Amino acid sequence: MTFELSEEHLAVQEAARNFAQKELLPGVIERDSKMIHPTEQLKKMGELGFLGMMVSEKYGGGGMDTLSYVLAMEEISKVDNSCSVAMSVNNSLVCWGLETFGTEAQKEKYLRKLATGEWLGAFCLSEPEAGSDATSQRTTAIDMGDHYVLNGTKNWITNGGSSKVHLVVAQTDVEKGHRGINVFIVETDWKGVEVSAKEDKLGIRSSDTHTILYNDVIVPKENRIGEDGFGFKFAMKTLGGGRIGIASQALGIAGGAYELASAYAKERVAFGKPIIQHQGISFKLAVMATEIEASKMLVYRAAWLKDQHMDYALAGSQAKLYASDVAMRTTVEAVQVHGGYGFVKEYHVERLMRDAKITQIYEGTSEVQKIVIGRTIEKGQLYVPVAK
Ligand code: CAA
Repeated sequence: MTFELSEEHLAVQEAARNFAQKELLPGVIERDSKMIHPTEQLKKMGELGFLGMMVSEKYGGGGMDTLSYVLAMEEISKVDNSCSVAMSVNNSLVCWGLETFGTEAQKEKYLRKLATGEWLGAFCLSEPEAGSDATSQRTTAIDMGDHYVLNGTKNWITNGGSSKVHLVVAQTDVEKGHRGINVFIVETDWKGVEVSAKEDKLGIRSSDTHTILYNDVIVPKENRIGEDGFGFKFAMKTLGGGRIGIASQALGIAGGAYELASAYAKERVAFGKPIIQHQGISFKLAVMATEIEASKMLVYRAAWLKDQHMDYALAGSQAKLYASDVAMRTTVEAVQVHGGYGFVKEYHVERLMRDAKITQIYEGTSEVQKIVIGRTIEKGQLYVPVAK
């Protein structure tokens, strides 16, 4: 067992940290406050390879492992979570799903452009009445022989207004329940795809979250991913990796808030000494630092399991459950350490506190993660076997 990062991992971490500090930090408060989409920033992220990190080089990706991706996500999430959520969806859900389960023709047509950031992708599963209960899909795709006709509404779609490609989950045979669900590659400029208004959110405010309507969209048969009926399993398998991405976002949010709070506590003087010398503050920082280390172990381990091609669904859910709770607790405490300054935008911690909340909700709420973990306990497989 080693707890040291390799030279390559350290280089990725440093590159992401430098990028976040130089390119994302300036303007992040304004983008958040005015809900300005980080179009330019995401373009640069694509050019630098952050949007297709795990895609093989054959398709224009970085050919990196999951740990590299997690380290980059962590650094970018310390600063701008509207950028890191776009990065997470494009990498973990869209590119990974396409590369793992797509046909060669689908990869040639779509993956290269998504991996290089020329196009952004969106993952369209949630519906007004199918959130945590993801099998209750109301969106339908009727088989017409050589094509499907897609109708329905998708909610809370990250990259909803800026994506060129959607992976859309739809019911093709109601009788078959979750085995009658498929997933389709849909281009957003096809007739009948309608992007509804942008959501005005508590956090990740510059990320473009939209409702999407599909009205009689004609989807060629070759755009279905996998065998007929594979859609729900596709969604579950893809979300398994997505949860590692969101766990690393939560880890970054906590780390960013902790770095700001500890720096502030060393500088701010009250009652004749820096506030870090008051136990009321140093105890807070001690708990924050310890919980962040514990999160890190869970998140890096989940990434490691995925890289070893071992089962990572349980580890990803545990990492997301814990890291998102730590992000919430840490950011609340970071605001408290800053006192009144923590309540104003200029000090960044209030934004991180607002951003933290979504990590307990998207890509499966904390309750969904507990369902996944609870079912594993039920099966008597609480501990993920370690490689032999
Ligand atoms: N891998 C492969 N197959 C899986 C699986 C996995 N990890 N998990 C479940 N399945 C399979 C099951 O084996 C079962 O198949 P069989 O019947 O053939 O055995 C089938 O899927 C149904 O499984 P369940 O009976 O366990 O399904 P359920 O209805 O009880 O739901 C759930 C389980 C975990 C709650 C699931 O519905 C879920 O994850 N819900 C949350 C959805 C979610 O995460 N949404 C996020 C939206 S995307 C997003 O947020 C992106 C963004 O924009 C940021």
